[in-house]
Amino acid sequence: MFRTGLLIQLGIISSALALTQLDPISISSGSFRDPQNRDRFFHGVAISIQTPPYLPTTDHFDPNSSLSSSDLTNLIEWGFNLVRLTIPWESIETAPNQYNLTQIQEIEALLNRMGEAGIYTLIDTHMDLLEGSGCVAGVLVKSEMQGCNY
Ligand SMILES: *[C@@H]1O[C@H](CO)[C@@H](O)[C@H](O)[C@H]1NC(C)=O
Ligand SMILES: *[C@@H]1O[C@H](CO)[C@@H](O)[C@H](O)[C@H]1NC(C)=O
Repeated sequence: MFRTGLLIQLGIISSALALTQLDPISISSGSFRDPQNRDRFFHGVAISIQTPPYLPTTDHFDPNSSLSSSDLTNLIEWGFNLVRLTIPWESIETAPNQYNLTQIQEIEALLNRMGEAGIYTLIDTHMDLLEGSGCVAGVLVKSEMQGCNY
């Protein structure tokens, strides 16, 4: 469902490989490969929450913004095995050179939950989220930061 070039650019992060039974996936000759060198196909959905808290709700079902246990069950039952998860840079680097480790821990916990359910995660760092409240202080030079929140 995603172009290979995009996947290579973004990088694939398999959910919590050390903690789950998910096979590690590599890219070879334009295909996703499992450890037995078989082609792997992914069917996925995109989750993109571009304002705080930047991550889906996990403790209850919400038709717009949750990734609860029942959502994970539904995704598996419907044949999905991948989530493309948007991680806006501003959710990590909240001010120049200030990184939100709590947010990173929450992302890790979410990846682990998905991995335990059998769902891979494709991290989408989405560097073009510069409109709206988004500013990438660690990437842009100062003159380009006019209009940012910090
Ligand atoms: C879901 O999003 C739509 C469109 O923004 C909104 O009208 C609706 O109230 C939202 N539903 C819930 C339960 O938040
Ligand atoms: C850091 O992340 C936590 C958890 O997502 C959030 O509650 C907090 O507001 C964030 N801090 C900043 C400075 O954005």
